[in-house]
Amino acid sequence: MSQEVRKAVFPAGGLGTRFLPATKVIPKEMLALVDKPIIQYGVEEAIASGIEHIIIVTGRGKGAMEDHFDHSFELDATLERRGKKELLAVSRSVASLARISYVRQKEPLGLGHAVLCAKELVGDEAFAVILPDDVIDADPPCLKQMLDVFDERGGSVLATMTIDGPGISAYGVLAGSPDPDNERIYNCTGMVEKPKLADAPSKQAIIGRYVLTPRVFELLEETTPGAGGEIQLTDGIKALLKEEKVFGYTFEGKRYDAGDKFGMLQATVEFALKRSDLGPQFREYLKGLAL
Ligand code: G1P
Repeated sequence: MSQEVRKAVFPAGGLGTRFLPATKVIPKEMLALVDKPIIQYGVEEAIASGIEHIIIVTGRGKGAMEDHFDHSFELDATLERRGKKELLAVSRSVASLARISYVRQKEPLGLGHAVLCAKELVGDEAFAVILPDDVIDADPPCLKQMLDVFDERGGSVLATMTIDGPGISAYGVLAGSPDPDNERIYNCTGMVEKPKLADAPSKQAIIGRYVLTPRVFELLEETTPGAGGEIQLTDGIKALLKEEKVFGYTFEGKRYDAGDKFGMLQATVEFALKRSDLGPQFREYLKGLAL
């Protein structure tokens, strides 16, 4: 088994019901955060972390993602004719960002099932999982930080965040204890998907970045429906934990839940303020609002 992590799986088959009606026709992964679809942030993070091959797990009505990461001959020809060199470069660069393969999740059976759909494309090697809804602003990129932990510790790594209070019930939650040598690392002994607050084993919530060993595929094949009647990735990793080490990792950076209306608004404001082309004007605009 190779320890080099070359592939990242993007589960993108979900219905995006939290963002209706915007997501009735448009895949939620294609919603724009400032001027880029949210999935492009994840793809750029993966590439910046050294990933060579992106595997997107799609579903019905998700074709816009494939078109987005492809050349658009009509658009490029028009931009060229009009002499719009900078926009042409933007359009072309998206198509050459990464090597991308697509696999369909034919039924929405859960996140664990979506990851399992990528089994043949990943093969017998460690791989990353990026949930495109979770946009993470971090330097170095969140996935790069996790790959460094994977290299050092040699076990699967899950990104985590401390969540205080009832909000924890929206997440997979780890059981275990902080590592004595590194306060960002959490030594897992168990995990539970979307527990009630009273049943949460800790405040360590799983965020949408994982580095996993391929054994998880075989375990996911045996995983039965769990929380919400779905085949949960958390349950597959819990089974992995009986055989291999699994670590939580509190990443350095800020995470936005861009699949949620409020999270998307937060990300929009903060990403726009950071942009050199938009930030100064947007800051002045915000200051002028009678809040
Ligand atoms: C998924 C996972 C959950 C994780 C969360 C992070 O849940 O099942 O364990 O904490 O992503 O965003 P979802 O948000 O798809 O319900």
